[in-house]
Amino acid sequence: MTDARRQAPAAARNRDPILAVLREVLPPAGLVLEIASGTGEHAVHFARALPDLQWQPSDPDEEALASIAAWREAEGTPNLLAPLRLDAAEESWPVESAEAVICINMIHISPWASTLGLMAGAGRLLPAGAPLVLYGPYRRRDHAIEPGNAAFDEDLRQRNPDWGLRLLEDVVQAAAAQGLDLERVTAMPANNLCVVFRKR
Ligand SMILES: C[S@@+](CC[C@H](N)C(=O)[O-])C[C@H]1O[C@@H](n2cnc3c(N)ncnc32)[C@H](O)[C@@H]1O
Repeated sequence: MTDARRQAPAAARNRDPILAVLREVLPPAGLVLEIASGTGEHAVHFARALPDLQWQPSDPDEEALASIAAWREAEGTPNLLAPLRLDAAEESWPVESAEAVICINMIHISPWASTLGLMAGAGRLLPAGAPLVLYGPYRRRDHAIEPGNAAFDEDLRQRNPDWGLRLLEDVVQAAAAQGLDLERVTAMPANNLCVVFRKR
């Protein structure tokens, strides 16, 4: 057993609401590429709950990769693959195809180039009809921002001027430019959204 496993309290809170959406939108079998897996707790939970899918976690951060690997080793989930070093902003990804792409809580806490790269990569990898699933907080045109999200946005921008809650309409436009059409937006606990796109 290694000590590299990290824990994010939010992951324990949001994993089951996210899983409920995943059960509705993911294909019954195939490879799911998870971008920005972080600690790896979501990957373990989703892989265990969805045993007919192959779950491919990834992250660009070395500590995250070590944590994902340690969770995988500790839990022994057979359909959870070894994590890959993947930076969504890079033009080339170490995966050539997937039946679904999922990305939880990255878009607001990375530069906009990461979102553009995410859309380009998902557009390249996914076959027609396959989903891209996003989860996180957003701003929305014609919706007043929730006080908690406004404070979070301010905090993110103080930490890094290139971070911050994105306007959902900008994300939808970036996806559409890569052949990913908006399918549904689901309100989630704590003022988050699950946003599902399908490859045209
Ligand atoms: C707030 S954490 C979310 C982790 C996990 N998805 C969760 O919800 O617990 C943000 C993650 O995004 C990753 N990240 C940041 N920039 C990225 C990029 N350009 N490509 C892929 N992942 C990125 C970070 O390394 C970090 O693991």
